[in-house]
Amino acid sequence: MTGYAVRVEAVRFAYGGGEGDVEALKGVSLDVAAGERVALLGPNGAGKTTLTRLLVALRRPAAGRVLVGDWDVATRRPDEMARRVGYVFQHADQQLFARTIADDVAFGPRRLGRPASGVAAALDELELEAVAGLHPYDVPPPTRKLVALAGVLAMEPGLLVLDEPTAGLDRRERERVVAALRRRADAGVTVLAVSHDLAFVAELAERAVVMRDGRIVEDRAVGDLMYDRAALSRVGLKPPTTVEISMALGLAGGPVRAAEVVEALRGVRWTQNAESSRDAEQASGSS
Ligand SMILES: Nc1ncnc2c1ncn2[C@@H]1O[C@H](COP(=O)(O)OP(=O)(O)O)[C@@H](O)[C@H]1O
Ligand SMILES: [Mg+2]
Repeated sequence: MTGYAVRVEAVRFAYGGGEGDVEALKGVSLDVAAGERVALLGPNGAGKTTLTRLLVALRRPAAGRVLVGDWDVATRRPDEMARRVGYVFQHADQQLFARTIADDVAFGPRRLGRPASGVAAALDELELEAVAGLHPYDVPPPTRKLVALAGVLAMEPGLLVLDEPTAGLDRRERERVVAALRRRADAGVTVLAVSHDLAFVAELAERAVVMRDGRIVEDRAVGDLMYDRAALSRVGLKPPTTVEISMALGLAGGPVRAAEVVEALRGVRWTQNAESSRDAEQASGSS
């Protein structure tokens, strides 16, 4: 699997095209290396969705350039972009149209000539087999979101662009999404995910790009940003609970993923046990 690099160069974009335009991107530059896992954060209206749409040629920049691998997106149609970029819309309903979930997930890969085995694998890893025969609108919205993701994963793209992929999902559904995305990333796929869900970001991403008002205002390691309460609050976010616990206990190494925090907590318990047994020894020694 080839992961694609992304290059966004001094991109400007405005909705409207006359007086009173909304300037959604005011000069955005971003380089993402092949295989990187990047979270795109920021308050509503920051321009996150607009930026992701430029990556799949759903919108054209007014100025600047967008590259996916060696493709200049300006020279490609959205259906061509689908060969390289798997895009999951913020609202799955914009994306589902077939009569059954199985057909919906199979549509994209069939059109691209990708193997049908990828369809079964995507349905399996997102635990959708039980609903595969249902109409997409006969399952609840969070399940539809998983269907949209499965359809994109089955196309085996080298770049995944996901707009709030965990919004509305419960913890178990979110874990499935994280596992599926990490598996792709481990295989070299580049992942760019817009998200407000910092627990998800902590599990998935290594780098956080923060947008505000049409510009990139932060670009740093996720592990670094998660412990910077002030930077998070400037864009209306709070650290995930696991990081709050880690901060409160001063856990060494600044763990970010839940499993890392749990691991670091084991160390805390050991230390406390060691201290209390030392206390006990001292107490017995002095008596
Ligand atoms: N289809 C549209 N028509 C007009 N303005 C839009 C449209 N979509 C987004 N905008 C405006 O562009 C700006 C950026 O929006 P968006 O990219 O959706 O931000 P985000 O995804 O960060 O919430 C906002 O001011 C928003 O109101
Ligand atoms: Mg958005």
